[in-house]
Amino acid sequence: MSKDNDTSKLWGGRFKEATDAFVQRFTASVGFDHRMATEDIAGSLAHARMLKAVGVLNADELKEIESGLTQVQKEITDGSFQWSTELEDVHMNIEARLTELIGASGKKLHTGRSRNDQVATDIRLHLRAAIDGIAGELTRLQRGTIELAAANTETIMPGFTHLQTAQPIVFGHHLLAWNEMLERDYGRLMDCRARLNQSPLGAAALAGTTYPIDRASTAAALGFDKPTENSLDSVSDRDFAIEFCAFAAILMTHLSRMSEELVLWTSSQFNFIALPDRFCTGSSIMPQKKNPDVPELVRGKVGRVNGDLISLLTLMKSQPLAYNKDNQEDKEPLFDAIDTVFDSLRAFADMVPAIKPKKETMREAARGGFSTATDLADYLVGKGLPFRDAHKVVGKAVAHGVDCSLDLSEMSLATLQGFCSEISEDVFDVLTLEGSVAARNHLGGTAPQQVAAAAQRATARLAARHSTH
Ligand code: ARG
Repeated sequence: MSKDNDTSKLWGGRFKEATDAFVQRFTASVGFDHRMATEDIAGSLAHARMLKAVGVLNADELKEIESGLTQVQKEITDGSFQWSTELEDVHMNIEARLTELIGASGKKLHTGRSRNDQVATDIRLHLRAAIDGIAGELTRLQRGTIELAAANTETIMPGFTHLQTAQPIVFGHHLLAWNEMLERDYGRLMDCRARLNQSPLGAAALAGTTYPIDRASTAAALGFDKPTENSLDSVSDRDFAIEFCAFAAILMTHLSRMSEELVLWTSSQFNFIALPDRFCTGSSIMPQKKNPDVPELVRGKVGRVNGDLISLLTLMKSQPLAYNKDNQEDKEPLFDAIDTVFDSLRAFADMVPAIKPKKETMREAARGGFSTATDLADYLVGKGLPFRDAHKVVGKAVAHGVDCSLDLSEMSLATLQGFCSEISEDVFDVLTLEGSVAARNHLGGTAPQQVAAAAQRATARLAARHSTH
């Protein structure tokens, strides 16, 4: 390569000296954007076919481009494609190889297009495919969660506030709370998909192109709902990537909450569930250990996805219209968020159905923590006491229970009557765990009957989803 006239560059025409070797490496993106090669080729094929349809390319040129791009795709798939940093990015690598393969027609492919609308198209296509894969894993996780819930509509456990035993609930109710978080995440993901699914192709560098292009046809060929409205906006904004990362950050936050509970529940202090060995690891020094690595790792991965979101928000902030090279920095955070979310969901979708609740320990924990105290207060209200007075009476009974290590249900009728003379034999019906959960019998409550119905509705919502998931 001659230093003062580097003609090897696709844009080398107006340059008098070669790119500095370090600058070449510094500005190249092929090391990470080669991941969008399939989408780049799909975009080029749609563009070339449209150029032929509007008379810019002839039939032979299109044929050569099609067979050349097929060959390029084959080389990329079988690993023989030679990626070159000198060719900067995925787009120029592919175009250069195409021209090497088919000659003059290859040089016509870029007519009426710019890398700016090309890359905007590629990222949308890549993210759309990733979203569909993620939607599938998210649906799988929800299905497993709902099935486990449906099998545990009568499994009593303590419900917590402040991580202190509050009131008895059933395990299925807890699991369906997870499912509600995931259901909203799915909605956010679909919103993101719907908004990103517009074709920027045809925006060219920033202002559109002088050729008689047909943007609706390339949009349709690539499965977009329609072309974007404004060429400047099309090549510049990456809000769809930000939106995906926002979805990802919220989803990972939810997974971290589930993780935290799994870590607590598998500890010997809680001992509420068992996770199969295949999701855990041991310690190299402490032989007794079985560590819940998968939930711990997922909990830890929230940080990087939050970082990806902040990176993209900061990348976009204050960028003037239209395309700026800053936007080349969109890919690594976006790809990282995609991979992290997919892998975390996959691990969870495999693991959640394998959770084995330890029903006896869960029940004992609910029994031991005065979890039916509210039920006693409600019982006294039924006997005519104002709720505040009932609250005070039960508080005294609990204090007595703490002193003599007795749950409310273990106290004699005479002892209970010592706190309030209105109490009679029927009090023991409300002090049982089963009676307590069954009494919360309304939409959204923890009564087994309600939880079973909620699991059915959740299953129906999943079934109504797009058939590919
Ligand atoms: N590699 C570039 C990117 O990711 C492609 C677009 C380059 N456009 C340009 N005018 N330099 O953004």
